[in-house]
Amino acid sequence: MVPFPGRDLLGDAYAAEPVAVVVDRSGGDADAVVSGLQARGWTVRRVDLSGSPAAFDGETTELESVLAQHLQGRVDLCVSLLDGDTWDAGVRQVAETILVAKHAHAALTETAEAGSRAGFVTVTRLDGGVGLRGGRPAAEALAGGVGGVVKTLAREATGVFCRALDVDPDVDRDDFVAALLGEIADAATDTAEVGVDVAGARWTVVPGEFRFAVAQREEIGGDVPDIGVDAGDTLVVTGGARGVTALCVRALAQHTEAAFVLLGRTALADEPSWARGVTDSELKAAAIEDITAGGERPTPREVERRYRDQIAQREIRATIEAVRRAGAEADYIAVDVTDSDAVSTALAPLRDRITGVVHGAGVLADAYLTDKTGDEIHRVFQTKLTGLRTVLDVLDATIRCATWCCSRPSPVCSAMRARRTTRRRTRRCAGSRRAGSGSAPTATSRRSTGARGTAGWTTSTPAVCGCWIPRSVPRRSSSSSARSAPTTCARWWVRTSRCRQETRARWPQLGRGNLLGRRREPPRGGATHVMRGAAFTSRVNQLRLAGARLPARACSYVPAPLDSGAWRNQG
Ligand SMILES: NC(=O)c1ccc[n+]([C@@H]2O[C@H](COP(=O)([O-])OP(=O)(O)OC[C@H]3O[C@@H](n4cnc5c(N)ncnc54)[C@H](OP(=O)(O)O)[C@@H]3O)[C@@H](O)[C@H]2O)c1
Repeated sequence: MVPFPGRDLLGDAYAAEPVAVVVDRSGGDADAVVSGLQARGWTVRRVDLSGSPAAFDGETTELESVLAQHLQGRVDLCVSLLDGDTWDAGVRQVAETILVAKHAHAALTETAEAGSRAGFVTVTRLDGGVGLRGGRPAAEALAGGVGGVVKTLAREATGVFCRALDVDPDVDRDDFVAALLGEIADAATDTAEVGVDVAGARWTVVPGEFRFAVAQREEIGGDVPDIGVDAGDTLVVTGGARGVTALCVRALAQHTEAAFVLLGRTALADEPSWARGVTDSELKAAAIEDITAGGERPTPREVERRYRDQIAQREIRATIEAVRRAGAEADYIAVDVTDSDAVSTALAPLRDRITGVVHGAGVLADAYLTDKTGDEIHRVFQTKLTGLRTVLDVLDATIRCATWCCSRPSPVCSAMRARRTTRRRTRRCAGSRRAGSGSAPTATSRRSTGARGTAGWTTSTPAVCGCWIPRSVPRRSSSSSARSAPTTCARWWVRTSRCRQETRARWPQLGRGNLLGRRREPPRGGATHVMRGAAFTSRVNQLRLAGARLPARACSYVPAPLDSGAWRNQG
């Protein structure tokens, strides 16, 4: 988390007589938000989802018809208020918010294309740090995953102002409403997640190395990563025998002497005689031969099933062998992590020796938000979230560290970079905890963590984000935002060469003529000062987030038309 500059409010951000749709769960905050908007001249349509079933089961026909009904016609702003403080409520509300985004997409895009602001804002009351501060139990912070929905919508509906706002629960209701009303009119458009702490200060998340890794490297004074697990550890790795998680397990085994218990649904058996000694590429032919020899007709489905099963088992055996070759212990258990009884039965005998969990099991159902179905969301969440919960429920009292695997584009990267990131399907392991903070699911360590320090769960957000990366991200010309940067800003940069050098060094992409252009006169032509202001604020925020120390004046924006001459007084 890094401090985020104060808001630059746009007085005329939305069209006249704006319409807001507020989706809520009937909390007191919702009444206050609706009244606050109405007091500012908004017409509010309210969707009360308090009657939704406790757990999300993928059946969304009724919900989607209610959302479609409320989100048709003119919509300037869609606000989704989340208040889930249990695991099931968190999962359900994040899933519902995906569907809210799905149905809001068309109406908001239409408003944006008509030339005024269209906003999609989610609101949580987690910790004023989008659930990443580590002070809340994971179940309560789970709703922070809604930031993934917001970031996805921002990429799929590029004209829509998207923001995930999290306000500390101790902020009183009036200040909370004021924060929300300010946030929807913020000039900065490209920061998706903003937290407001109890003092009213704003925070956001920047990608970077996990703070323990940084601290350890500084302590060690070199590049040698101390990954914090050793011969005394046994790690349960869901999905760890196949796919990208298996590669991570192999790498981990090279660097630690920990033991591994790998979980997957594929049952492991001795290789059947028809497959023995047969190469992967010849497996299908061998399967056909075997089926035919048994007097049956080989259907493509049966051949494919046999082939996939053997390939999966070979991959599992190869992982186990590689781990053992590296000198670590490896066991494999066939179990579906969404089946709590089966997980409990499988892991209970090992509970005393297991010290950590890596949750890599996942299924993909990638689709644009507008194509999402309740069933797909349910399938992905079942493995990613319910599966994680199931494993933690069994092991919670004994583990001292946990990591889960997901992918997410950086919150401040350009659309182009995000697309590249997505294409590479960068795997991010996010979230780790050390023992010591007590409440569920924070566990008590079986042994001292010594110099490693303590922390709560770091995040549930990235784990959820992993489900929502769009297949492709629309390309946006980087030069268009450069052109729209206000002249006042350009003049400032030209004059402060030290600042420019520092910025170039830290953020080379922006150094190539974007903000640092030498234009001294106001650009001619049609764009309004509002958009220039928004682009300016966004750029400055990006620089600050990248670590540039910018003088306060460089970051001020005066909302006056460029032809008024007010810009001349800047910088
Ligand atoms: N591949 C990438 O480039 C990439 C990038 C970013 C993030 N990720 C994330 O990394 C994780 C693994 O991805 P992958 O591409 O390696 O996928 P994968 O090849 O399909 O592997 C998924 C693994 O999860 C296991 N699994 C799935 N559902 C399970 C369940 N209900 N219970 C137990 N095990 C289950 C699978 O084993 P069985 O089939 O035997 O059950 C398999 O070992 C996913 O969470 C994914 O979202 C992957």
